[in-house]
Parts: sequence; structure tokens; C-alpha cells
Amino acid sequence: MPWLQDAAVIDTTETYGSDNLLHPEEAIRDSLDAIAAIFGAKRSLFSLNGSTGSIYMAQHMALQPGETLLVQRDSHKSVYNGAILNRIQLDYVYPAYDKTRHIVQDIQPEAIRDKLQANPSIKAVMVVYPNYFGITSDLARIAEVCHAHGALLIVDEAHGSHMHFSDRLPPSALSCGADIVVQSTHKTMPSLTQTSLLHIGERVDEAALSRAGALFQTTSPSYLFMTSIENAVLYMDSEKGRAQLDALLDQVQAFRRQVSALPDYEILCAEDMQNGLDLTRLLFRHKNCSGAKLKDILYYEHNIALEMADLYYALALGSVNNTQEDFSALVEALARVGEACRHCPAQIRTPADLIPATIDLPMYEAYYQEKETIPLATAAGRVAGQQLIPYPPGVPVVLPGERITEPLIQKLTDLQEQGIDIVGMIGPERACVEVLR
Ligand SMILES: Cc1ncc(COP(=O)(O)O)c(C=O)c1O
Repeated sequence: MPWLQDAAVIDTTETYGSDNLLHPEEAIRDSLDAIAAIFGAKRSLFSLNGSTGSIYMAQHMALQPGETLLVQRDSHKSVYNGAILNRIQLDYVYPAYDKTRHIVQDIQPEAIRDKLQANPSIKAVMVVYPNYFGITSDLARIAEVCHAHGALLIVDEAHGSHMHFSDRLPPSALSCGADIVVQSTHKTMPSLTQTSLLHIGERVDEAALSRAGALFQTTSPSYLFMTSIENAVLYMDSEKGRAQLDALLDQVQAFRRQVSALPDYEILCAEDMQNGLDLTRLLFRHKNCSGAKLKDILYYEHNIALEMADLYYALALGSVNNTQEDFSALVEALARVGEACRHCPAQIRTPADLIPATIDLPMYEAYYQEKETIPLATAAGRVAGQQLIPYPPGVPVVLPGERITEPLIQKLTDLQEQGIDIVGMIGPERACVEVLR
């Protein structure tokens, strides 16, 4: 394949003049210094196992084994896997839930302050900013609260690396005072899949970043990946990239107006939010059609692939590579689906809020304990031995070491009945779960 031959030119290895990712002193160091200067970081690191790898390193830098990390309970599964690998304890903070819109909202700084006051063993706090729906919290205030209690603030900005490049978007995590920031450049900037950046601020030791990099990263880093991250950052920072992002923001603004005007649709707008909204995320719902069904119809009947959907919402992502035709095609398809669903019965759906969890033992202990498989229906009072993750949207509802309760069983059963796949359920009817013996 010709493109593969072109790629092979860049796909060098660590040799004369190509530097070493784990001890960067030449070309890689220059590239990372330029990236850190653009984002306003003390230092930055290429992470070549996505934000998953960045999260493992971030936790490793901030905590010693046995120490406690306060995490937002609707975090990505890599946050929990990282807690097993790094042998850290977790405490949870819950986002507000909007019962009218059925959306998980921001994390309140006061909720973090209360947790820090109640549990002095918390050494670091980790929040998602923006969340999957583009919703942000008051991060500057959260940073103040953390620092007043001597805790480091780690921000999973996996979905927000583009926000630094426009004043029309919420402020970047680093500019709000975050200490360690994780960005999936591959999600919202034009870089190759699997690429990510890890940044540190003034409170974090550069040596800690080097140690985490050397521990978690491959000794054979892909120069294709690293070049693609560098190119994406330089492009987004260029006049052309910033103009393209500005044009995208005009397009999504027009798209919001058009979808708001369609009968039976609602679309999330900045005015609905207490804090900023990442406007490039387009979260909409139809009153008579679940988000998951809408996503399927758009794909199978209109050849439009969305980012994700749940029982309520479908989520489209605008990128700097989208054209006006893409948005027009989506509005047209939504109008057609809306027409077809006009007289469908209104949906009854399971609320999307989180049921507070009780942690019985640290996840890294539960992970290694002996387990048995039992029907979910009989699991009330038992301690979970595995993650149970409704897909979509992919946030674990049960984690190893947490107690399984009647409300949780009811919620999982309801979701399954509505066609949501629960990853982790076992057996021919997917009716069983692993619990600790
Ligand atoms: C909020 C969040 N954090 C972290 C990750 C992991 O990112 P990656 O796929 O780059 O490893 C994801 C992936 O979807 C995510 O949604």
C-alpha cells in the first residue's frame, strides 16, 4: 500500500538524532517543550496508549499505594483500572443530576470540599472536564478547594484538548489551575487514534513525570504517533487551525438553531448550563425515540455515524474536519426521523442518575480475591467481583469491591429489558454476575 510506504519514512526508531521518549534530550524534548509552551504546562509527555495510559501515569504520580483518590463516580473505566494497577483506594463524589433533562451534570466544588474535610486521607482529586456531554464544572473553584486542602487536582480532559484554542469554549484545565491534565488528542484534534498528552503544572515534580513515563510507556514508541500529536497541536495553534475551529463553532451554532426548530426535538445549549458547555458536542433527543434507536436509524438509513447514545440522548461530535454539508445532512435526516416517529408512543425510560455506591474493600483487593458466579437476581448484599458497565454509555454502574443492592439490581434489570447491553454480565441469558466468595 503506497500510504504505508510513506508512513514508513516517519516510522523510525530510537537511533542517532531521533532521541528517546523515556529520556528526551533532543528532537522529542524540543517537540514536547513546544507543546508544553502552547498549552501553558510546566512539562508535557506524549502518551502512546491513549488517555488510558495517561490516567495510569497521572494516578501513579499523585499517589502512593494505599493512599486515597477522590474520583467522580461517573468516570471512565480506565480510572478504575488505574486504581487497581496503582493499588490506590478510592472515595467517590457524585455529579448533580438534572431530573427534568435527564442529564448527569457538573461536580459541585462544595461537594469536593465536604469530602476533603471529612476524609483527610484523600491525597488527590480526579474530575472529568468536560464530561461526555460537553458539560463542565467550575474547575477554577475546584482547584482552589483542592489546593486549600493540600490535595493535587488531576483532570481527565480526554474530551477537551481543543478547548484551549478558542475563547468561545470553556477555559482549559491547565488555565484553571489543574495540576495533572490528561488529553486524548485523538478524540477532538486531528491526530492518530491512540494518541494522548499528559501535562503537569507547577505543583508537580518533573522527575515524577519522567518516572511515570519510564514505568508505563513502551520502550519502542511510535514516531508516527508522536509526529501526529505534534502536527495536530501545531495545526490547532496556527491561524488556519484557529480559523477552522471558529468556523466549526459558527456551524454548530446554526445547527443548534435548526434542531431547536424541529418539532419534538431538544438540543442542549450553552444557556441551559450553569458553567460553560463544549459547543462542539451536540447532544439532542427526540421525545418518542430513544437516543440509541435514533443513533441506529441515522446510521443504517442515513449513513451518518454518531459518537454515542443512551436511552435519552444521541451525541454528535463536530470536528474541524466537518463541512457545512455534514451538518445539513444531519439536520435533514433528523427531520425525516422525527416525522417518522411523530406518532410513536412516548418512551418510558430508566432515569440516568447514579445510585450511590458502598465500598466494602479496595478494588485492588477485590480484584485478586476468589470469586463465584451467581444470578444477578440473588446478588443483593454480596460484594461485586467485577465491573458491570451498561453500553451505552460505558460508565461502570458496579465496581469490584462495591456492595450490590436491590436498587442496583432493579436498575440493571430495567436497562437490560430496554435493550441496553451490560458488559460483565455472564451466562447464556446474561443474567449472572461474579461476586466475591
Ligand atoms: C472521559 C474519558 N477518559 C478517558 C478515556 C480513555 O481514553 P483513550 O480511549 O484515549 O484511552 C475515555 C475514552 O473514551 C473517556 O471517555
